[in-house]
Amino acid sequence: MSRRLAVYPGSFDPPHNGHLDIIARCLPLFDELLVAVLRNEEKRPLFSVEERVEMIGGLVGDHRRCRVESFSGLLVDFMDRVGATIIVRGLRALSDFEYEFQMALMNRRLNPRVETVFMMPKDEYSYLSSRLVKEVFALGGNLAGLVPEAVLVHLKEQLPQGPA
Ligand code: PNS
Repeated sequence: MSRRLAVYPGSFDPPHNGHLDIIARCLPLFDELLVAVLRNEEKRPLFSVEERVEMIGGLVGDHRRCRVESFSGLLVDFMDRVGATIIVRGLRALSDFEYEFQMALMNRRLNPRVETVFMMPKDEYSYLSSRLVKEVFALGGNLAGLVPEAVLVHLKEQLPQGPA
């Protein structure tokens, strides 16, 4: 039987506990999970794609069924290159739904073999986003319990004006 490989794509700028929660929920469901970090320099991410891959790699490092890669171009083309047909996306509030619905159906149209699976994070992460993490950090807010310590270290390097 072929191994079920799922791809969890995103910007992960930066990764937070909601992302890690989705990864942990995927591992019992799939044989292998590939976290795919979008190379999106035109969106001016805070962290380079190399830093984001390294951060997630460090966080899932010792899990042999999970690996991290970057991609550019269409997600469905990347899926073909790695031989995967399952996309995993986290769904938080209703506000995510329309964007996710459009992406899932467009991806299916572009590649009918691709299926998108939605996972709900733990409720305490249901309002968490990378955008809010950056904003709260830059304004000195407390992110304890929402972002891994290693990511806080990277945030301090990138945004020295954040909390001491
Ligand atoms: O974490 P994000 O920014 O919500 O993730 C969005 C992502 C990376 C899944 C999406 O932008 C994407 O797949 N981009 C690759 C380009 C692509 O395939 N675009 C068409 C999507 S229907």
